[in-house]
Amino acid sequence: MNEKKYDVAILGGGPGGYPAAIKLAQSGKKVALIEAKAVGGTCLNRGCIPTKTLIANADILHTIRKAKEFGIDVKEVSVDFTKMAEQKDTTVTKLKASLEGLIVSNGIDIIRGFGKFVSPNELKVMGQDNLLIKADAIIIATGTEPKEIAAFAFDGKFIHSSTTILELQTLPKSIAIVGGGVIGCEFASLYAELGVTVTVIEALPRLIPLECETLSAFLAKSFQKRGLNVMTGAMVSSIQKNSQGISIQLKDGKTVDADCALVAIGRSCNTIGIGLEQAGIAVDKAGMIAIDEHMRTAVPGIYAIGDITGKAMYAHVATHQGIVAAEDILGHTLHMNYDAVPGVIFTSPEIASVGMSLATALQRGYQATRTTYPFQALGKAQAAKQTDGFAQIVIDETTGQILGAQVAGHEASNLIAPMVTVIANELTIGCIPETIHAHPTMQEVWMESALIAQGIPLHYPPIKKRG
Ligand code: NAI
Repeated sequence: MNEKKYDVAILGGGPGGYPAAIKLAQSGKKVALIEAKAVGGTCLNRGCIPTKTLIANADILHTIRKAKEFGIDVKEVSVDFTKMAEQKDTTVTKLKASLEGLIVSNGIDIIRGFGKFVSPNELKVMGQDNLLIKADAIIIATGTEPKEIAAFAFDGKFIHSSTTILELQTLPKSIAIVGGGVIGCEFASLYAELGVTVTVIEALPRLIPLECETLSAFLAKSFQKRGLNVMTGAMVSSIQKNSQGISIQLKDGKTVDADCALVAIGRSCNTIGIGLEQAGIAVDKAGMIAIDEHMRTAVPGIYAIGDITGKAMYAHVATHQGIVAAEDILGHTLHMNYDAVPGVIFTSPEIASVGMSLATALQRGYQATRTTYPFQALGKAQAAKQTDGFAQIVIDETTGQILGAQVAGHEASNLIAPMVTVIANELTIGCIPETIHAHPTMQEVWMESALIAQGIPLHYPPIKKRG
């Protein structure tokens, strides 16, 4: 087997691995990026990009359906899902080609194959390329796969993972979605918009249980208004296939029938079978690798980034971790601020948050309070007929520091951005009204909410003093 020596080898070319490779190569390091499937990883090939392409199509459909409210008469609307799926694939292919070009133009060697540690500084790659790679530093960025449960194993036909569901060329008439987390709710929202009968089955008492309760309640209400069947506190025990499709058995004895199921109950780490034992790296029960604030593992010269580190499972977290690891290799220090990580759920309406919820802030011992402002009171929301939503700010009452922000409704994915900057820079509530917000925009929701927090609301009735 041929051998090749690099300064840094990166195992996994997803949104964690490739930005680290680019950063290192731009600083003069000789870098190998080892990828078994396709560059871009889950995000580009089986996650963020294909789903958001389909969601963009569904959003257009939603707007057309609302056209009448704006005095626009649209005669007939029909969905060609096969074309939508084709367009999604074209988007992914185009982005993948430009990403490959970008990586290569930075002088990085893409090594195509499955890499495995044979020692702490050697990786054996098998596949299209067969090589023994020696490197002074190695970054593990192998990501996660949809979690599979033996009682309802994926078959790609009746029982789908979030990967195989993206391969569908035609729409089912009905779908049961097991798991009301981020993936489950995004697909539920998408399929309902496209006219599929959707049932969401979530084991815990509320949808998106990792988000704050007000966001969960808003999403559940909006799903119900749109005709989705939401079952919470409902644990799936098995899924049977039958001549009509599938039948889901719940622990309480109820059944749910549908054409097919999507199982979205979390993700499993790709840390098995990559020779971690040869490198001396241990994983926990969930297969995650412990890291320090510089992304270093317990073995000198080996770093881990992305989903396998057990932090927030977001592409943007993996990217930032990749930059932190690369900077450490280059002898510089950067930090991750996990308290200033935006989370966006691309449902319709969208959900977004950053920092602490009120419950978390109180649990952590802050004397915290929360103010809320409804979209309904915003001129821009009225003009655009996007009044269903709200924004809230969580504040430390003793210092005025903003601890968290949540927003639900139209454009929440973009609305959260200024609050990420606010929290990352530990700003206080007074900074928001001191900043001039363009009018009329949805961004004014933060200014109005901050004015309420200060007890001096502008476009909101006066707040009665307590006592
Ligand atoms: P998740 O952890 O968000 O949700 C899984 C849900 O399944 C949980 O609420 C859990 O209670 C439920 N569940 C587990 N077993 C069940 C059973 N037998 N019956 C009924 N319900 C059951 O995991 P998900 O949705 O698979 O997403 C994986 C990761 O990917 C998340 O960390 C998410 O943040 C990330 N992601 C982020 C996206 C974004 O940023 N927009 C998009 C897609 C995924």
